[in-house]
Amino acid sequence: MAKRGLILATSGIQRERAGYDSPMQPTRYLTGITTSGSPHLGNYVGAIKPAIEFSRLTSAESFYFLADYHALIKTDSPELVVQSTLEIAATWLALGLDPARVTFYRQSDIPEIAELTWMLTCSTAKGLMNKAHAYKAALDSNRAQSLDDDAGISMGLYMYPVLMAADILAFRADRVPVGRDQVQHIEICRDIAQRFNHRFGPVLTLPQPAVDENTATLPGLDGRKMSKSYGNTIALMLDEKALKKAINRIVTNLKAPGEPKSPEESGLFPIWSAFSTPEQTAWMSDQLGAGMAWGEAKRELYEKVNAQIGPARERYHALMNAPADVEALLVDGAERARMVSREVLGAVREAVGIRRLR
Ligand code: TRP
Repeated sequence: MAKRGLILATSGIQRERAGYDSPMQPTRYLTGITTSGSPHLGNYVGAIKPAIEFSRLTSAESFYFLADYHALIKTDSPELVVQSTLEIAATWLALGLDPARVTFYRQSDIPEIAELTWMLTCSTAKGLMNKAHAYKAALDSNRAQSLDDDAGISMGLYMYPVLMAADILAFRADRVPVGRDQVQHIEICRDIAQRFNHRFGPVLTLPQPAVDENTATLPGLDGRKMSKSYGNTIALMLDEKALKKAINRIVTNLKAPGEPKSPEESGLFPIWSAFSTPEQTAWMSDQLGAGMAWGEAKRELYEKVNAQIGPARERYHALMNAPADVEALLVDGAERARMVSREVLGAVREAVGIRRLR
């Protein structure tokens, strides 16, 4: 499903690599996952599963990283950041991310990202940051509550798009798979890179967003989009009993067994479809129409989700109990990633005049 859009996107790519372009270079995909929470079913369907499938099916290069610097914008709980880093890494690895195929690393292990952030800050118009969605949302919310414009707004939130641009530009990423809500950040990244290149020469590669229109957004327990901010999520790596319990909490209506039901009446059906083939989706729609009890539909959903997640669970717990192994993998990923970021920062430093005296 998701992979189709991405593959189409690959074939139409325009090479925008500056500096050392080689026509034989594979397209480089890069995306980050903020480490400020536990993965849930919505993350799985919308991001984790398509990204892992994509990395297996393509000859493109994939760079996936844990955005722990970004997590600091959202939380001041050190325990949350470190726990989330381990959970997200263990989840991706347990579900089949192959660290031999994908450069998988932690943002804070790449000192070049922090350095590039400053270089880019100096090429970023303040007015551009005023328009960024995350900052504007915070500003609007302050105004709606008659608070001071700047109340509770950190420079981290304000500068968020510059850090994100550094994540992307430090690796000469061509394509950045993101949700629709992140497209503006890729546009900002392009603006920043363009301005930098205009001032200092063609050093940075302009990336393009890769938005997959087919990717499902999952409803949560209450039918609204599954999201941590609504508190309606189903955690991904629950044990069987807890998963069953969570699925039983999906809101339905009072229609009795035997009464015809339509798929739109509960978030249960879209979750079912996200885990099903088109045939199985049609089957569930028919069954509900023929009066299947909500309880029965929930049992079916549990079986289906458990069949997909279950096999990864054991590996997930093994990884959670072996943080040193996960750490070693991430350190190894960072070493490989830095072969690129060191080269890029070398070119950036040279371009701006931070160089050896000679
Ligand atoms: N900001 C992104 C999000 O919240 C995560 C992220 C950080 C990212 N750096 C990135 C995504 C670089 C793509 C590229 O979803």
